[in-house]
Amino acid sequence: MGFEKINFGIDILDEVLPEGIPRTSFIMFSGHEGSGKTILTILIAKQFLLRKEPVIYVVFDDDPNSLTNFLQSQGVEVYSYISERLLLVVDGFSFRIKDKKGRMHIAVLEDVDPMNPEQVLHTIIQLIDRFEIRNRGVLIIDSLNEFLSYHGYAKVGEFVKNIRANISKYRGILTIAVLHTSSKKAKRFKSFVAHVVDGLIQIDKMCKDNEVLRYVIVKRMKGVRHRTEKVLFNITQHGVEKVV
Ligand SMILES: Nc1ncnc2c1ncn2[C@@H]1O[C@H](COP(=O)(O)OP(=O)(O)O)[C@@H](O)[C@H]1O
Ligand SMILES: [Mg+2]
Repeated sequence: MGFEKINFGIDILDEVLPEGIPRTSFIMFSGHEGSGKTILTILIAKQFLLRKEPVIYVVFDDDPNSLTNFLQSQGVEVYSYISERLLLVVDGFSFRIKDKKGRMHIAVLEDVDPMNPEQVLHTIIQLIDRFEIRNRGVLIIDSLNEFLSYHGYAKVGEFVKNIRANISKYRGILTIAVLHTSSKKAKRFKSFVAHVVDGLIQIDKMCKDNEVLRYVIVKRMKGVRHRTEKVLFNITQHGVEKVV
């Protein structure tokens, strides 16, 4: 199964990854805030759910309600996937709410605290084993920056290596981790882990003639050929559209 290739099912990514990607990849989506990293993970989650593959989505940057609303805005029938146990949310946001009772959303199966990366790792492994997920599905972590506000490169790097070994490689689950590269620390962290991850996809913005252009570029992808050009895209009501 280790060499099984899969497609994201998103035009702008599939075009630059014509062979797909190995299922056992750990991929980092890097770029500045507002470039479209979250929306791409939402659209990838949608494609996996449509194929009836499980999505384990770990939210740190935003609350679980925002995630489910974002999924619904992209036409995902959130509640049917929750009842089919295909959409599994891990809540790494709500630990901040001091008087919280119970879970923030029906989709949430576990609460985690980014101050404790080992707990986050073990919670994710236990959840995946509870649902016997092997060689299918996607784990999405949005984003790694929350760890960087508490820990140094070595510790967050360990977390990345542990997720890659235990989830992507041993359990055969594609993993996508988002990294916002707006701070110096995050930029340095990106260089620190670039050789560790299997794939690095940059999703970013540039200004041209007073217009913001969004683009995606595959910086590296182990095990498959990929194209190296920038693909420009727009975010629309219906998701993302390639600029031609
Ligand atoms: N449904 C939508 N329609 C149009 N624009 C949207 C929609 N959802 C998000 N956006 C815009 O897309 C941009 C990128 O959002 P996002 O994916 O959250 O960025 P990132 O995660 O890289 O910070 C934001 O500026 C946001 O306003
Ligand atoms: Mg985001």
